[in-house]
Amino acid sequence: MTAVITPTTGAKYAKIMAVGSYRPERIVTNAEICEHIDSSDEWIRERSGIIERRYAAPDESVVDMGTAAAALALSRSGVAPSEIGMILTANVTHPYPTPAAAAEIAYRIGAINAGALDIAAACAGFCYGVGIANDLICGGTAKYVIVIGVEKLSDWVNPSDRGSAFIFADGAGAVVIGPSDHPAIGPTIWGSDGAQKDAITMTQSLIDYRNNGGEMFPALAMQGQQVFRWAVSEMPKVAMRALAAAGVELTDLAAFIPHQANMRITDALAKALKLPANLPIARDIAYTGNTSAASIPLAMDRMLTAGEIPSGGAALLIGFGAGLAYAAQVVLLP
Ligand code: UT7
Repeated sequence: MTAVITPTTGAKYAKIMAVGSYRPERIVTNAEICEHIDSSDEWIRERSGIIERRYAAPDESVVDMGTAAAALALSRSGVAPSEIGMILTANVTHPYPTPAAAAEIAYRIGAINAGALDIAAACAGFCYGVGIANDLICGGTAKYVIVIGVEKLSDWVNPSDRGSAFIFADGAGAVVIGPSDHPAIGPTIWGSDGAQKDAITMTQSLIDYRNNGGEMFPALAMQGQQVFRWAVSEMPKVAMRALAAAGVELTDLAAFIPHQANMRITDALAKALKLPANLPIARDIAYTGNTSAASIPLAMDRMLTAGEIPSGGAALLIGFGAGLAYAAQVVLLP
C-alpha cells in the first residue's frame, strides 16, 4: 500500500508584523579609529558618510545582541514565543561554526517550538531571511518566523587596516513575520557572484591560523573599490527587478532602505534609480556604521520610531556584500 502523505498548507500571504533593534552602548568616534590608521575624521566622513559607530562590549556577543533585538520585535508583535516556528539569524560574526547562534537565541527568548538556523549571506543576509521566512509561512512549514540580522564586526576587523577599520561596526535588528490576509512581501530577487569571492573575504582561514602557529588572527579584508563599483553598477538593476516583480512603481514607495554600506553607495543607488526627490532614504550609517546583516532592520526601526516613514507604507529593501551575494524585495512596513 502506498502511503498518503499530508502536505503542508500555508498562509496565502505573509507580512512583517513588527521590528526591533539593539544598538550597543559604546560610541566609537572617527578620532578613536584614527588612533590606529593614517586617516582623518574629514576623510572618513567624506568617503563613507560615517560620523560615529557603535561597538559591543568585550563580553557582549552576537547572541546577546540578537536576543535583545528579537525579544523587542517579539514583544511588539504580540506573538507568543511558543508560536514561533523558525528563527533565522543572518550573521557572519558568531565565533562558533557550531552550534548556530539561532539555537541559543531561540532558547533565550523561549521559542521552544522553533527551528533554528543561521544564514551566512553577509550584508545580504537579512533580505535572504525575509525571502525565506515568506516562503516558510506561505509553504506552511512555520506560522511565525523571526528574522534577525546581527553582527559583531569589531571582533573580526583589523584596527590597523586602513581599507576597512573605519567602516564596520556592531548591532542587531529583527523582524517578526507572520501570516497576512493581503500581499505584504514581494518576490525576492537574489543571487551571488562567487567569481568575486575575494572582494570581501578573510585574511586566512581558522585552520590556516592554527597551522601557521597562531599568528595573524583572521580579519576581514575588502577590495573597497571593486565592491563599490559592483554595488553601484549592478544593484540598481536588482532593485528595479524587485520593484517590477512586486508590481510596484517608484512613486508608490514610502521608503528606500538599502544596506548601509557607504553613504556614497546609497546616494549613487538613489540617483541611478531616479528615486522621487522627497522619498525617505535610510541614512543610518552616519551614526551606526556598516553593520552588515543588521543594517537594514536597524535603519527600519530607527525610521519608523522617528516617524520618518509610515506603518503600512511600501519599502524597497536591498542587501549586498560578500559573496558577492545580494537580495532585494518590496515589503509593507510594520
Ligand atoms: O558592506 C559590505 C560591502 N562593502 C561595501 O560596500 C564597501 C564598498 N567600498 C567602499 O565603501 C569604499 O571603497 C571605501 C569607503 C572602503 C574606500 O573609499 P574609496 O573612495 O573607494 O577609497 P579608495 O580605496 O579609492 O582610496 C582613495 C584614496 C587613496 O589615495 P590616493 O591613491 O588617491 O592618493 C587611498 O590611499 O584614499 C586613500 N585612502 C585613505 N585615506 C585616508 C584609503 N583608505 C584611506 C583611509 N584614510 N582610511
